[in-house]
Amino acid sequence: MDSYHIKGGNVLRGYIEVSGAKNAALPILAATVATRGENLLRGCPEISDVHSMVRILRSLGCTIKWEGEKMSVNTDSMTECRISDGLMKEMRSSVFLAGALLSRCGEAVISNPGGCNIGKRPIDMHLNGLKQLGVHISHTEDHLLLQGSDLEGTDITLPYPSVGATENIMLAALSAKGCTRIINSAREPEIVDLQNYINKCGGKIEGAGTGMIIVEGRRQLTGCCHKIMPDRIEAGTYLIMALATGGEILLKGIDHRLLAPLIDILQKAGYRVETGYGFIYACALGKEKICCKVDTSPYPGFPTDLQPQLTALLTVIGEGSAVNENIFEKRLKYGEQLKKMGADIEIYEKKVIIKNNKILYGADIVAQDLRGGAALIIAGLAAQGETTVANAKYIKRGYSRLTNKITGLGGVITEDGN
Ligand code: UD1
Repeated sequence: MDSYHIKGGNVLRGYIEVSGAKNAALPILAATVATRGENLLRGCPEISDVHSMVRILRSLGCTIKWEGEKMSVNTDSMTECRISDGLMKEMRSSVFLAGALLSRCGEAVISNPGGCNIGKRPIDMHLNGLKQLGVHISHTEDHLLLQGSDLEGTDITLPYPSVGATENIMLAALSAKGCTRIINSAREPEIVDLQNYINKCGGKIEGAGTGMIIVEGRRQLTGCCHKIMPDRIEAGTYLIMALATGGEILLKGIDHRLLAPLIDILQKAGYRVETGYGFIYACALGKEKICCKVDTSPYPGFPTDLQPQLTALLTVIGEGSAVNENIFEKRLKYGEQLKKMGADIEIYEKKVIIKNNKILYGADIVAQDLRGGAALIIAGLAAQGETTVANAKYIKRGYSRLTNKITGLGGVITEDGN
């Protein structure tokens, strides 16, 4: 099993250039299939989910060149609209290809998508939205066949602001006649990046970042040049990591407003956090304490994708705090692993209570999902002694050059094979 090995106790200090956002890169890469010609994307994070998306796009016939953070995707050579089961199961974001393929080919064949094991992750809102545009959906035992070459724009009201459903419907609506309004759409900034990308390609979408998105369909889309927005979750992870070791960090290339709920909690805990155009600086002063109640919620609330990492920090400074996970069902599994390191926490179905602040000790622990895995890395760096985090593959889905970045900050981490 691939693992990270960490020697805890070093204070992390230094700066990080924030990578491009996983959650913007994946839907934008999927969206390239709705365009014709060459797309030049900068800021592509070197993470395994992007590798999986590249494999899917190549299997559809796209020509891809990827060097460092630059990628070119040429969709002129596309020949396929069927995604193989194996590729589909590699990651959940393959589901975005349904909307994009419908726009391109009027048809898509997908199976149930894979992804992190953080509870049931149905795609009913995606499929209901597509049906309202006129997509005909038929199920076989393993596959979903989606057909719709004559879609018509309409008003679609989401029962919950699902990020993925919003993006999938936006992509399918590109080929619909007239306007589609997505009401109660998710407001995540990565959806704004997707809108910006599509508009550069010649599309006309308005309203991303608000609760109503309007897509004008049937415009000719060509490739474009686009820089993927920075990854607020990666930035927040390193911010928490440095502070958990009592250190300091400068994050470059990030709009601090994207991390407002986290910065607020850190400032209340007594950390020095300074922000300015394109940077966040944070420093531990050694006297931090906080007792807070954190509730994850859709943007602009506290992100579920930073919940495990924050909990790891609270085990050290947040006696009496409570963290409620309101988005996913099973996103607290990392808590049992933190307990193995000495964390004094109670874990309920959707809530963690930090009973007492305790020094963490190195242990052999297992990552069970991407962000829970990141929390274990943070705990390992803050702990005394050595920690092995097994299942590194989950963490590699979302963190570009993790060991290099941590080593650059003065942390001691290696991975099997290094
Ligand atoms: C996206 C992010 C993920 C983040 C999540 C919430 C990407 C690639 N991933 O995931 O990192 O944690 O937003 O911010 O952008 N749901 C349904 N039916 C559906 C769709 C969703 O019941 O058809 C439920 C989910 O099970 C979950 C909730 O809605 O409980 C939110 O999910 P959603 O916003 O869709 O998350 P994702 O797009 O999967």
